[in-house]
Parts: sequence; structure tokens; C-alpha cells
Amino acid sequence: MSAEPLEIHLDDRDVAESLRRDVRVGLSAEAKWLPPKWFYDTRGSELFDEITRLPEYYPTRAERAVLAEHAAEIAESTGAKTLIELGSGSSEKTRLLLDAFTRRGGLGTFVPLDVSVSALRGSTAALAADYAGLRVRGIVGDFTRDLHRLPAGGRRLVIFLGGTIGNLLPAERAEFLTRMRAALEVGDWFLVGTDLVKDPSVIVPAYDDAAGVTAEFNRNVLRVLNRELGADFDPEAFDHVALWDPEREWIEMRLRAQRPMRVRVLDMAVDFAAGEQMRTEVSAKFRPEGIAAELAAAGLPAYRFWTDPDGLFGVTLARAD
Ligand code: AVJ
Repeated sequence: MSAEPLEIHLDDRDVAESLRRDVRVGLSAEAKWLPPKWFYDTRGSELFDEITRLPEYYPTRAERAVLAEHAAEIAESTGAKTLIELGSGSSEKTRLLLDAFTRRGGLGTFVPLDVSVSALRGSTAALAADYAGLRVRGIVGDFTRDLHRLPAGGRRLVIFLGGTIGNLLPAERAEFLTRMRAALEVGDWFLVGTDLVKDPSVIVPAYDDAAGVTAEFNRNVLRVLNRELGADFDPEAFDHVALWDPEREWIEMRLRAQRPMRVRVLDMAVDFAAGEQMRTEVSAKFRPEGIAAELAAAGLPAYRFWTDPDGLFGVTLARAD
């Protein structure tokens, strides 16, 4: 089957306005910051795909190992008719689930949702070509906003892979899970991937690779601001920083100004001191008890929890009650 035309829940004006709002708030703050979702223009999505193949970036391989091992059980336990993927990107690992559902039978529709039109165009075309008989309905949307517009009914499994839930701050995460539960009906399923707490000597290199791909990915957000808002950042004048926060158990990516700079963006003049750091991403790492507690608090009690053989990454299957 060919993919259906993308359903657009985010029009260009909404996106432009939310970028302007985020930039205004983040760059006028005492400690400057930007939300990570603005990394993912076409170039940023390509760089992220490159990151997933780096020797240091273990989460993708570890999560793939879990899915390869347990996809049949996920298909069997959930008996889903509709599979919905939040922040779907290339949907590469999702093929393991689609293969299991194909063997089992019963899955009719796959609904990938992502902010990136380019990523969705690629993934929906490829999946529709490779899974004959599967209806592929791509949605351009923001998983923090558009959950109430997911397709209704018919035994749904919503998947949220890659550890992307860790890019939300704790309060945002609680709100996201509450909205997720509200979008589901009793008996629907939620599968979530979470990177696990481990020695920082393993985590930090995953966010500061030797080839410098993550550094380029990080600086890409400045290129997005230059292009979309006419800002005049000099991306080469910012160094990539990846810092483990042991109290909050998260990694932060930051951009550090090499010299004092005044940047024009929107109607603002934003001053950076030499060495000043701007936060561009939080990527939280989880403990199994913590994941279970957060899910249960939102009305999504865990049904199964798996990790890869090295215990690097966790995947939880939860059920709306
Ligand atoms: C897959 C979006 C969760 O936080 O590990 C990769 C993004 N940032 N390298 C992550 C990312 C830096 C990634 N997510």
C-alpha cells in the first residue's frame, strides 16, 4: 500500500510561533536555554541518525536488542490493532515490532507522529512499500501538544522509544504521562524506552563522541535559529559541552561561548560572556523503580519491564487502568 498523505497537526505558523516563544523565553533567562526539539530540521535529523550509529552511542543498539528479543511477546500481549509511534523519526527500530505484528496478524494501521516532515516523508514511504496491507498514516505533530488528536478506538499500542521521554523535565514528564493516559482508554497499551542510570564514564562519551557528530548536532540548533529567525549566531564560536548531573541523574548538553558575543535574534540583543554556557538538552537517565512509580502515578501501571543483556537500557510495557 502507499502511505496516505501526511496529516498536518502543526502548521508552519504554529511552529514559527512556538519557536519564537521558546527563543524569547530561553534566551532572556538568567541561565540561557533552548528546548531540544529545535535540533531536528532536515540536517539535525540526519545528524541524529548518524549519532545512533556511533560506537559510543549505546542507547539505540541496546533498545534494539530489547525489541528484537521481546517483539513477539509485545505483539502477543497487546494484540494491538493500531500502533502509534510518538517522535517516530526514521521508525527504524519499529520495524522489529511491525515484523512481529505481521507474523501474528491483526495489526491494521501504523500511525507515526513526528515534528519533522522530512523524517516522516521518508519513513512513511519506506514502511508503506515494505509492509503490504498495513495502513500508514503519518501525523506531523508535537507529542507534548497533540495527544488528544490520536486516532481513537480499536486496541491501541502507543510507543515512545529512544529514551526521548528523558528529554522532558520532571514536571513536563508528569504532565506528558497524565495527558498520555487521558488519550488512552482502559486496556490500551503504552511502551516506553528509557536510558538507565549507569557509570558516567559510559554515559558521557555517548554525548561527546570522538568524531564530533554530537557537537555538530548540538550546534545545529544555532543554524536553525539563524535560518528560521534571521539570527546571527556564529555556530563555530560555541563549544559543545556534555555534563553529567549526579543529583538529578541526567546529562545536559550545553553550548559554551568561546568569547564575548552579542547576538541579534528577533528584536533582542542577546549578550554572551566568554565561557557562558547555554543549555540545549536534558537527557534524563532512569532507575527501574522510578519509571514504574511515574507510570503508576499517571494511571499507566507497568505490566512488563525488560533490559538488554548489559542492563544499559530499559523498555517498559504499561497498560492503561
Ligand atoms: C533519542 C532524543 C533521546 O537524549 O539521547 C542524542 C537525543 N542528544 N545525542 C538522547 C540525543 C544527544 C537523544 N534522544
